[in-house]
Amino acid sequence: MIKQAIIPLAGLGTRLLPLTSVIPKELLPVNGKPNLEYILEECVNAGINEIIFVISKKKSSIKKYFYSDKLYKSIISKKINKKIVEEYQKLKRYRKMIKFVYQNKPRGTGDAVLKCKKYIKGNYFLMLLPDDLIINKNCSKEMIKIHKAKKSCVIATKKINSKNVSRWGILSLKNRKKTSFEINDVIEKPSVKEAPSNYAIIGRYILPKKIMYILKNQKKGRGGEVHITDAIKNLIYKGEKFYGNIFKGKYLDSGTLEGYIKSNLEISKLK
Ligand code: G1P
Repeated sequence: MIKQAIIPLAGLGTRLLPLTSVIPKELLPVNGKPNLEYILEECVNAGINEIIFVISKKKSSIKKYFYSDKLYKSIISKKINKKIVEEYQKLKRYRKMIKFVYQNKPRGTGDAVLKCKKYIKGNYFLMLLPDDLIINKNCSKEMIKIHKAKKSCVIATKKINSKNVSRWGILSLKNRKKTSFEINDVIEKPSVKEAPSNYAIIGRYILPKKIMYILKNQKKGRGGEVHITDAIKNLIYKGEKFYGNIFKGKYLDSGTLEGYIKSNLEISKLK
């Protein structure tokens, strides 16, 4: 059973500057609620009960968001406001599940995952990239189902416009079925010429604990960062089975200003 999730949160959020010079992008409200809470809800509804937040000292307000007891207690002691009491209860429930791990230099997703090595208990864990919101259907839940059926690793994927392949990690595939396929290879942000398909990696991964040993010796890749994509490539070469989940939900990229605005509009339309 997959019970643990890692959420890398130490990125600088440069695509959303100047907003992110004072507030972490994961706390920016999407239709009145921090982006990060949508990710947490997806985890909890998929049966996850321990979530590792990889933050940095610069992003300590993420921890503060869950630990503002003094403020809540003083407000609640003065007047009972049902909404504030409920919000406080919710934060207390979440923080029972959250562990904070520090990555003070943004050295990439692979490095963020490696920082969690000693906390991973099972053979597999879930990783979610908080920029990628998926609405309407719980993508993590779908992936856990595939993982159980195939006893393999799983990556969320969506077909994207071939012109834009260099924005994402791209999958090479075989035996495509309606909602999934076997992954042959992965390439981080290839050129249009290099791209083996137009199936992009969207930020949900079910990974094996053994990826930690690969990451330990993983050299820096594109942009001088340690990418999880490169470690996955290595695992595939070593014979590890990976499946792509062509997920049913709607993908919203809230890590860019345009995508962030779109996320607000789309989510405000939900009931
Ligand atoms: C990261 C991954 C990339 C993946 C993308 C999904 O890139 O490195 O493989 O396709 O997330 O959002 P980033 O968005 O951090 O540039």
